[in-house]
Parts: sequence; C-alpha cells; structure tokens
Amino acid sequence: MSLLITHIGELVTNDPAAARSGGLLGVRTDAAVVVSDGVVSWVGSAADAPAADEVFDAQGRAVIPGFVDSHSHLVFAGDRALEFQARMAGESYAAGGIRTTVAATRAASDEQLTAGVARHVAEMRRQGTTTVEIKSGYGLSVDDEARSLRVARRFTDETTFLGAHVVAPEYADDPAAYVDLVTGPMLAAAAPHASWIDVFCERGAFDEDQARTILAAGAAAGLKGRLHANQLGEGPGVRLAAELGLTAVDHCTYLTDGDVHALRDAGTVATLLPGVEFSTRHPYPSGRRLLDAGVTVAIASDCNPGSCYTSSLPFCIALAVREMGMTPAEAVWAATAGGAAALGRTDVGVLVPGARADLVLLDAPTHVHLAYRPGVPLVARTWTS
Ligand code: NIG
Ligand code: FE
Repeated sequence: MSLLITHIGELVTNDPAAARSGGLLGVRTDAAVVVSDGVVSWVGSAADAPAADEVFDAQGRAVIPGFVDSHSHLVFAGDRALEFQARMAGESYAAGGIRTTVAATRAASDEQLTAGVARHVAEMRRQGTTTVEIKSGYGLSVDDEARSLRVARRFTDETTFLGAHVVAPEYADDPAAYVDLVTGPMLAAAAPHASWIDVFCERGAFDEDQARTILAAGAAAGLKGRLHANQLGEGPGVRLAAELGLTAVDHCTYLTDGDVHALRDAGTVATLLPGVEFSTRHPYPSGRRLLDAGVTVAIASDCNPGSCYTSSLPFCIALAVREMGMTPAEAVWAATAGGAAALGRTDVGVLVPGARADLVLLDAPTHVHLAYRPGVPLVARTWTS
C-alpha cells in the first residue's frame, strides 16, 4: 500500500544533504512524498511525483516530520492544579510535590494508569507528536515502578526507569537504603520493561555520587543513561552527563560556561523543557547560548502533573522562540531531529527515504506559523508508521 502526499507548499525534511538550498530544516517547496509500508520511499518535487495507490493533496500547506518528544512522565494519577495555583500566587516549585503524585499513582489501578497514558498520548498525537519517551518515577516501590514501566511499554519502546526521582517516603530517613533498593531489586524488576535509566540529580533529590552509582547499576543491567540536571540551580549533573558521554541531559536551566563547553565537547544533547520554566516561573535558559557554542539542542514537553502539565510541542516551540532566543527553524528542528538525537534515533525526526513515515500536515503554509500563531491548533492531521 503506497500513499503519495503531493502539492506540499513547504516540506521540512531535516535532511542535512538538503541543507545547502533548504537551510537547517532542509526545506523543499512544491514538494511531494511517497510512503510505502510505513516508510518514506520517495521525496522530491510535486512535478516529478511517481504514481501511488492513494493520493492526498496538501493544497499548498506545510508538512513536517512528526514531533519527537524525548521527555515525558505520563504514568501518573491525579493532578496538582492547586499546587500550580499557589505557585502562580507566589509559592516556589519544590521537588517534594512529587510525593503527592506518588500517593495518587500508588492508589490507582493498572486500568486507571493505562487510561491516563492513553489519554495523554492521544492528546500529544493531536498536537503532532508521533514518538514519545515515557518515564516511570511516581511509583517509587519495586512493584509500582515495574508496573508503571509495563504500562508505559504498551505505548512506546522509549521507556525510562526513574526510580531515582525522589527518595520514596518510606526511606525519608535513610536515603542510602533507598539507593540500594533502586540499584538492586527495583532495577531488576524494572529493567525488562525499560530502555533507559534516569536520575533527578538536584538538591532535594539525588547528589552526584548517588547519580553515578545509579547510572552505573543501570548500565550494568543494559540500560542507557540520561539525567534530569541543573533544573532548580547550578549543580554537578550536566558535567556528570558530559563526563559519562550520555546521549542527552535534560532541563539545563542553570548552566555555567564550563557546563556549556562540557556539553559541546562530549556531544551530549541538551534537552530544554520551556514548559517547565513557564509553569514554575524559573528563568528560561538561553537556547541561543547553547546553539552558538555548538551544542545540539532538543526541545521536549516534560509533560507531568507537577512542574509542567502541557503535552503540546507547538506550545514549547513558541516558548523557545519567544523566550529562549531560538529561531522558528531552530525550534522546529529541536522538537523533531533534536528529539531524535536525544533518543539516539536516526529513523524519526527526518523525512528522507528510509525514515519512518511519521508526518504532520499543518494548517499553515510554513513551519514559522507554529511560533507565529501560538495557541492555535495548527496540526491538521498526522500519519504514523
Ligand atoms: O522533570 N524534575 C523532576 N521531575 C519532573 C517534575 C515532577 C513533578 O513535579 O511531579 C520534571 O520537572
Ligand atoms: Fe522530567
């Protein structure tokens, strides 16, 4: 079964080979794409398009790769609207709020957790996200972390074990014992359902030594490492990610020049989460500073009930452009190819022959409209492989 999508006014390919004429996004105008059996099989000018079983006329609108959301926490129950309301009235964000969601998540049934993930994944899809990473981290017991990952795996292969989100309430007086639990029985129960392991390396959560220990145990169990770091203040997490050569480190809100240089030298992707700064009133980090230094930047949602309850990458793109010094092209790249880089993927985030057929049709002539028309539902439809 093949589908020809033709009369595409602007096709964002993210193809480095097309960058000379098409800029960072490898843009083609008056373009067409053929997809066959879930894979992009042909990209070119509408005038040269081959025949296909079905034809879709984009009528001059833009087509971009599906968004790759490389950071979300969708396995949870309840919400924290009252905490958000208090923050907007002047309270500050504290990692301790995570325990509120832990209590609600533990009390939920598997069916309730699954329905919640399904609802949020559908919400993401309507907004153009076709690849999503999902973390555990609101279970914080052996059984609740394992079931969180089992639920997440029903929706994506990009699952991340985040038992080291905060110290579980039962271990408040003995964090060392909690690290032993995370690196021992919890990891053993989680690893079969996870691809990645993550640690919230921040004051009030886990320190550098604990993060090293947990990431090393994860690596020994075959999990790839990533980190939440430098979200609430400067700290060791970003440098640790660079030292360990991790694929990506996420948040990166408070960075020293040394951190920026370490990211560049290591080739570690800096994943920026502008919805978090929106929802916590922390200052936005400068995407410009990272890009100018030669760091690869991704943008993700961090969708979670505490620090950032948006599932919308178009919203995050608009914030990155308005508040982080990024151009619309840089922000769209960061939410597609950048997200793919943050997951170590080459089959998504691009529209080139051989890539997965994950495409978004915009109700707009160009990608610029994603930032130019904030809050407007511009995703007309998606195709997924
Ligand atoms: O990525 N930073 C740590 N974890 C989440 C927040 C979780 C929460 O507040 O519930 C984050 O922002
Ligand atoms: Fe997060």
